[in-house]
Amino acid sequence: MTPSNAAQHSTSFSVAPMVDWTDRHCRYFHRLLSRRAVLYTEMLAAAAVLRGDRARLLAFNAEEHPVVVQLGGSDPAEMAEAAAICAEWGYDAVNINVGCPSDKVQQGRFGAVLFKEPETVAACARAMGQAVRATGRAVPITVKCRIGVDEIDSDEALARFIEMVAVEGVETFVIHARKALLRGLSPKENRTVPPLDHARVHRMKKRFPSLEIIINGGLASIDECKAQLAHVDGVMVGRAAYQTPWLLSDVDPALFGEPAPVKSRLEAVERFMPYVRARLEEGVPLNAMTKHLLGLFHGVPGARALRRVLSEEAPKNPSDIGVLERALEHVRQPVPAAG
Ligand SMILES: Cc1cc2nc3c(=O)[nH]c(=O)nc-3n(C[C@H](O)[C@H](O)[C@H](O)COP(=O)(O)O)c2cc1C
Repeated sequence: MTPSNAAQHSTSFSVAPMVDWTDRHCRYFHRLLSRRAVLYTEMLAAAAVLRGDRARLLAFNAEEHPVVVQLGGSDPAEMAEAAAICAEWGYDAVNINVGCPSDKVQQGRFGAVLFKEPETVAACARAMGQAVRATGRAVPITVKCRIGVDEIDSDEALARFIEMVAVEGVETFVIHARKALLRGLSPKENRTVPPLDHARVHRMKKRFPSLEIIINGGLASIDECKAQLAHVDGVMVGRAAYQTPWLLSDVDPALFGEPAPVKSRLEAVERFMPYVRARLEEGVPLNAMTKHLLGLFHGVPGARALRRVLSEEAPKNPSDIGVLERALEHVRQPVPAAG
């Protein structure tokens, strides 16, 4: 169902870009839980895409589509070249990171600090759009930003940022509904301390009805996502999707009226198994894949034992799929709680 005030864009649900978390193994696993979720890579520095090991950074599984690559950077030429490379690798969109507050990223002058320089983001978007079009691929450039940064914290400032960037052809804005404080807070604190202000994001959709506005921040359930979709075009979920991935199995039925791709958590893991086996043969360590399963059985009897087996044994037995099979025994035949 399309929300009435967002008629021009179809509803979207996405799993947020998360460094160290949303790697290709994680995305493959998430795709088993929802066909509809748009999946994002971890943020990749544009310079790394240009000069690093491209296959390691950019390769993904065909099953991951739709998949969006997120780039960090502020040099338009570098961002443009990196965007064209990503388009050629087959990503469905290229997203510019204007939300990350970490010190390391600020020194590289990208991430949230760029919110203070909309003209830089606009120049990157323009150059990236041109470079991607030159590849002959129709890959949109999108932006993920905060509702404000430091003292720049008003509807007017956010609207000005959006306006300046949208002029360069960006039609999709993912807005994390918290401002970032660049001094004094760690990246983690910057995801909990500044208060959420979903209403500011809703007002941006009213102000820019033709843009696709996707809200992010603090959404912990599919019901909360549904409520947001009355105000905006799409929702993006980060920590809840990673820490309790079973919620993704509700995305297709609850938001798109389509059947869930799997009926149970166990079925999801069983369908993940052939992928795990194939990657083990290529030398990918077991834990690189099983770490993404730690939250799957959250709330199910035996989940704690499964987590313990996976987190203690998988790192020590990097090529032994038996660890995963043993871990699953705890949730297959749950032992009744003592007492
Ligand atoms: C471990 C971790 C890594 C993150 N890495 C990125 C990133 O690479 N790029 C980005 O734009 N946001 C990153 N974020 C922020 C998330 O994309 C998201 O905006 C934030 O967690 C708020 O959404 P949530 O409340 O649903 O988790 C990260 C968040 C976490 C928890």
